[in-house]
Amino acid sequence: MVPQAAQEEATRLREELREHEYRYYVLDQPTISDAQYDGMMRQLQALEDAHPALRTADSPTQRVGGQPRSGMQTAPHSSAMLSLDNALNEAELRSFHSRVNELLGAAPFQYVAELKLDGLSLALRYRDGKLDVAITRGNGQQGEVVTENARTIGSIPLRAHLPSPGGALPPDFEVRGEVVMPRPAFERLNEQRDAEGLPLFANPRNAAAGALRVLDPAITASRRLDFYAYFLLVDGAPAFDSQWQCLEALATLGFKVNPQRRRCAGLPELLSAIQEWEALRPTLPYEIDGVVAKVDSRAQQDALGWTAKAPRWAIAFKYAASQAETLLERITVQVGRTGALTPVANLKPVVVGGVTVSRATLHNMDEIERLGIAAGDTVLVERSGDVIPKVVRVLALGDPREVFTMPTACPVCQGHVVREPGEVAYRCVNASCPAKLRESLLHFASRSVMDIDGLGEAIVDQLLHTALVRDVSDLYSLRVDQLEALERMGAKSAQNLVAQIEKSKQQPMPRVISSLGIRFVGERTAQFLAAAFPSMDALMAASEEDLQRAEEIGPKVARSIRDYLDDPHNRALVDRLRAAGLQFTFDAPPPKAMLEGVAGKTFVLTGTLPTMTRDDAKARIEEAGGKVTGSVSKKTDYVVAGDEAGSKLDKARTLGVPVLDEAGLLALLEGDAT
Ligand code: IVH
Repeated sequence: MVPQAAQEEATRLREELREHEYRYYVLDQPTISDAQYDGMMRQLQALEDAHPALRTADSPTQRVGGQPRSGMQTAPHSSAMLSLDNALNEAELRSFHSRVNELLGAAPFQYVAELKLDGLSLALRYRDGKLDVAITRGNGQQGEVVTENARTIGSIPLRAHLPSPGGALPPDFEVRGEVVMPRPAFERLNEQRDAEGLPLFANPRNAAAGALRVLDPAITASRRLDFYAYFLLVDGAPAFDSQWQCLEALATLGFKVNPQRRRCAGLPELLSAIQEWEALRPTLPYEIDGVVAKVDSRAQQDALGWTAKAPRWAIAFKYAASQAETLLERITVQVGRTGALTPVANLKPVVVGGVTVSRATLHNMDEIERLGIAAGDTVLVERSGDVIPKVVRVLALGDPREVFTMPTACPVCQGHVVREPGEVAYRCVNASCPAKLRESLLHFASRSVMDIDGLGEAIVDQLLHTALVRDVSDLYSLRVDQLEALERMGAKSAQNLVAQIEKSKQQPMPRVISSLGIRFVGERTAQFLAAAFPSMDALMAASEEDLQRAEEIGPKVARSIRDYLDDPHNRALVDRLRAAGLQFTFDAPPPKAMLEGVAGKTFVLTGTLPTMTRDDAKARIEEAGGKVTGSVSKKTDYVVAGDEAGSKLDKARTLGVPVLDEAGLLALLEGDAT
């Protein structure tokens, strides 16, 4: 039994924390300091640690994320998540408007105008007012279950502010909206990926999708996603009589609803909202790509109906990509963590879509050749949904113009530069090139890797300059007195940094794998590797063929891992990290193989299962040691039947073979069945 006092204290802390989260994430008006918030969170954590019975899924402590999963599950949507038709200019918007007018028989109607956020849509199901399941849009009919990841998004209430206004809403409902990655988080992530030698995300939408779909919720948490709600459904249908009421209700329930929302009585008002909001575009902390206009009244929405793809009562007006013309002054070269030399366009500063642009990546030599670009040329620069500006094409050749050639020596260390056959990138081959080391240290310390707070660029530069650090393992022997001697480093910060470095030893093995900076091995791949090889020794011993047995690892990645691990310098580094006390083993979710009740049993699948594809079901049965065959006989142990199961089901009944539905199969696979 939990003592009454502890119970009351936990309830009080939770209510206060929820209130402060709401003020911070949704209203953006915190009333206490971060330290006070952290203090309360720690108190609640301590109470829940002492009395685990107090811990509930909607407790603010649960935002840190549960255990990483070993695979993705899918689930069907309550009603299809369709898309929107686009209007690319005013004429197309006018023709949409005339069609609505006509279909509504010239009855008066209003629009609700909303920003079209450039993210990905997510459905959140609440049961008894609490967040129960989160599903990505997927193919519109079914999506991926990402509940644990969604819990880490601060602006998604784990518990809604019920009762709803006027008690109009039942406690089981669904909220749909857009997950976005705010611009600063996106920029930081891409900087980090650049340093890691990983391909950059083209836009925040892809980055948000990536962050939401990782297997480890702690990684989603580190990506600082945000959620804006725009639909409220009950049993798959709109819960209110108008879109406007729905937005108002969402706000009172504690969801973040975009402040840019407006009821427009006709086309002129809609056009002015579109125009006004375009001017806001550069000041918003996230990307938008247009304005969505929805017919407000639900009765009129129903009258207008849907096509197979989209509602006839809504349209997405898309803003044009912003472009500008400027001078390409110089092409310089940057050296990344993998030694790749990246050409960078240095532009005469120009305002594009409200943002001053002075640099753009040119990616590689192939891109420079494709564009036929040289310093001195006048070029067209574009920012669309993509935050990173890109050079679209050459508008006028410069006179004079200076054709770019890749340097043969590294611009940082003068090391040898080579281009491996079959690769686009040129690389500096000097293993101790300071540029590589600097980027490796920053990668190692970054939030989603070893998460060493306080180890930023300025400190890294000094550590390298003073030769206190020659590779990442040296971090673990740094002493407070050595750090205190650095510029702008007080006793307190030196102590903190040493403590942070010490703390990083507890980071789980997947992060240690990704800290090594092996090419093509980012967080997600590292997760799969650790799941397949739960100790560093097992990983080091794995052949290329072994490696390819891990989920999502193909020949290219396997090769790169082996290349890394076969290099004696790298092996020595791994040994030093082991000696420093990093986590070299991993408690993967228990292997399902040889599950009692499934192992050695023969299954026949028939009909369509509600959430799993037939291939998924087969894979899961085989993983657990079972066998799937095509026809039912006396030797069949189970028939798994979905919708429209035919003769195989009849035969099972005749032969008396036990029949399972999907839930029954899942129970068996989870070892719950007796
Ligand atoms: S309404 C059937 N409202 O745009 C109704 N969508 O092109 C579709 N989006 O998949 C959703 N902001 O991901 C709606 N205020 C907004 C939106 C919005 C962004 C996205 C959403 C949708 C896509 C449709």
